[in-house]
Amino acid sequence: MTRRAVVVGTGHYLPERVVENAEFEKTLDTSDEWIRARSGIERRHFAAEGETTSSMATAAAKAALDDAGLTADDIDAIVLATSTADLTFPSAATMVQAQLGMTRGFAFDVQAVCAGFVYALCNASALIASGQADRVLVIGAETFSRIMDWSDRSTCVLFGDGAGALILEAQTGAGTSDDRGILSTDLNSDGRYKDLLYVDGGVSTQSTGHLRMQGNQVFRHAVEKLAKTATTALERAGLDAKDVDWIVPHQANIRIIQGTAKKMGLSMDNVVVTVQDHGNTSAASIPLALSVGKERGQIKPGDLIVTEAIGGGLAWGAVVLRW
Ligand code: UT7
Repeated sequence: MTRRAVVVGTGHYLPERVVENAEFEKTLDTSDEWIRARSGIERRHFAAEGETTSSMATAAAKAALDDAGLTADDIDAIVLATSTADLTFPSAATMVQAQLGMTRGFAFDVQAVCAGFVYALCNASALIASGQADRVLVIGAETFSRIMDWSDRSTCVLFGDGAGALILEAQTGAGTSDDRGILSTDLNSDGRYKDLLYVDGGVSTQSTGHLRMQGNQVFRHAVEKLAKTATTALERAGLDAKDVDWIVPHQANIRIIQGTAKKMGLSMDNVVVTVQDHGNTSAASIPLALSVGKERGQIKPGDLIVTEAIGGGLAWGAVVLRW
């Protein structure tokens, strides 16, 4: 018998303000056509003034609790993936804890940029497997609009804001790949690639900074590393690509998503795609895609899912789970 972390609820939140590609044509030398063709992005949501990562995370968490038929009292831990916490400290996770009225358990943030949600899922799965927690609220939430350089057309058209949440619950499986829940994980990072994607400021350098990216370099790493990490995670579960019902990838660029599926020998019919409507929401993109994919009726109980992501660090990884 094996303790598995099984998804029992999903939820998401997107800010009200939708910004279409055409809006950038007013201030930048860019076009809707270029953004669609190079990234697949058509629109994104931007947080309103006063809206924060923790407020969006709380809204997504409440939706996931409702979906699971649970209350905050039923949750033992919150793991929140973000690179854009409201404050330097305390963690955004403890702010969500307070906003949910949760007075027990523990909460912490995970920072692995766009790979953050994969890292958070691994942490939550380990907490459940070890018996430290029976129910974990796992959230990805970001306000990347706050770290954009609005004069840099090569980055500011790509990112958006939002939050997604899952509730993982300990359930007993037989220890086989037929079990529901998280079956395997694979995490990687290589700090030598820091200069490909970073924010040029932070607390110990006394500034806030803006996102800087050598997009075409990140692109090259992405397809190769994502297909490899997904394949490694599948192998660890004793599975291969033909067993996969859905790839739920980090939503950065439709061409990366297509290239990864192709490398894995899978059709785009097996991929949940939201990049056209959300842009790149960093650590929020996978839980947003899982929640939207379930709402659309794509993801169903029993489906085998592989999620994969890469971002600043570089940090990348994959999780295989049965819904
Ligand atoms: O989520 C974290 C991980 N991040 C990613 O996965 C992002 C990975 N990278 C990408 O998605 C793509 O590299 C981009 C969408 C960022 C760029 O696409 P690309 O096909 O790699 O284009 P490029 O950077 O090689 O640029 C091609 C051209 C350049 O012009 P020249 O030098 O060829 O004259 C850029 O200046 O496109 C130009 N360009 C633009 N043109 C119109 C760059 N941004 C824009 C823009 N509008 N917004």
